[in-house]
Amino acid sequence: MKECVVVDGVRSANVRAHKEKGWFRNVRPDHMLIKVYESLFARNPKVKPEDVEAVFCGSANQAGMQNDIARLAWLAGGFPESVATNGVNQQCPSGMAAAEHAARAIMCGEGDIYIASGVEDMEKVPMGFAMDFPPKFMERYNLAEIPMGNTAEKVAELWKVNRKDAETMAYWSNKKAAAARDAGKFANEIVPIEGEKEDGTKFMVNVDQWIRDNVSIEEMATMKTPFKEGGVVSAAVSSPLTAGAAALLLMSRDKADELGLTYHIKYAGGVMAGCDPTVMGIGPIYAAQKLLKRTGLTVKDIGVWELNEAFGSQALACLRELGIAENAPFENVNVWGGALALGHPLGESGARIIVTLNNIMKTDFKHAKYGVAMLCGGFGNANASLWQRVDK
Ligand SMILES: CC(C)(COP(=O)(O)OP(=O)(O)OC[C@H]1O[C@@H](n2cnc3c(N)ncnc32)[C@H](O)[C@@H]1OP(=O)(O)O)[C@@H](O)C(=O)NCCC(=O)NCCS
Repeated sequence: MKECVVVDGVRSANVRAHKEKGWFRNVRPDHMLIKVYESLFARNPKVKPEDVEAVFCGSANQAGMQNDIARLAWLAGGFPESVATNGVNQQCPSGMAAAEHAARAIMCGEGDIYIASGVEDMEKVPMGFAMDFPPKFMERYNLAEIPMGNTAEKVAELWKVNRKDAETMAYWSNKKAAAARDAGKFANEIVPIEGEKEDGTKFMVNVDQWIRDNVSIEEMATMKTPFKEGGVVSAAVSSPLTAGAAALLLMSRDKADELGLTYHIKYAGGVMAGCDPTVMGIGPIYAAQKLLKRTGLTVKDIGVWELNEAFGSQALACLRELGIAENAPFENVNVWGGALALGHPLGESGARIIVTLNNIMKTDFKHAKYGVAMLCGGFGNANASLWQRVDK
């Protein structure tokens, strides 16, 4: 079987998905996607768009501006018609599924060069847009338990995650993200795209908008819990509504060597796991357990983890149940911050955390032999993927 390496990865800044306050409020999601694709080719001049075997693109709500956004953005960007695209929808894990589809195709020898990407603008195409649940699904589940925030409250209750611990996690997520931003850690991955500040001033957006510099545990404790009276889940411990795009250039190791390209990690396996949709946030527990079992590894073998923080409660439940960590700050989890600070543009995040994991393993975690990226998804799908160091 061939090997699949990550040659490059880029993303837009993650910005607030908000009609008045979002820095990309006048930027379409297809534009963000085109910009990350263009950047991959500009950074890797040995790779031409026509050399790409196919493009996978995850997006959780494929309607309106995001309806077949994979194909429409590719064509709108002026890229060759001969290169096929495939929109992938697995809710939040969509961007990771896109990367896994590409990696598996490379390993099977179906092609040498793929783009795997993800995109979402949660303001222009809101969560649940045009949703029409199957009647038999509604017979099987109580619809009142399905909204994401409600699932996060249920996880907090069943996995006994208290509000203070969730807020401590959000605090550290913001602190780490701000430190990473200030140290220029994201400079290699964020593609500047023109946007505008709240007052309308145009600027090149090259930092994530949601990071809270003055995050305060005391202030968080006073915030409302909209999903449950006296609950755990406030806006501070929820991943906020976000817009963003990310893309990876994945290649067979043979091809990368032939082109004289460098790389740091290769795909070493991935697992999808399902769970009860009313506690969808715990899915990564099952996905990571399966992944470790199948690859013969233990938690201790994994040098660094990227776990998408959909909510503080679910992320903590996963880390505790897997035996990775009990409470923030974590040594080797989301070392440059997580979605509580960086935001979570649904279908983008699975690709984004692989982009960031690649950069972390290239720089701060050079000693890590393995990294795992994982995330939960609406309606009970979760993915975990293993990335192994192969520096070249
Ligand atoms: C929780 C949620 C409903 C809150 O939405 P909202 O009411 O529109 O709130 P916002 O996110 O805009 O935040 C409300 C305010 O709280 C503020 N806030 C957020 N975190 C804060 C913190 N740690 N400290 C102080 N204020 C904070 C925001 O800045 C905002 O104020 P502003 O507009 O003055 O800047 C929404 O973020 C949500 O649904 N998140 C989950 C998304 C989701 O389900 N994703 C899929 C996961 S699987």
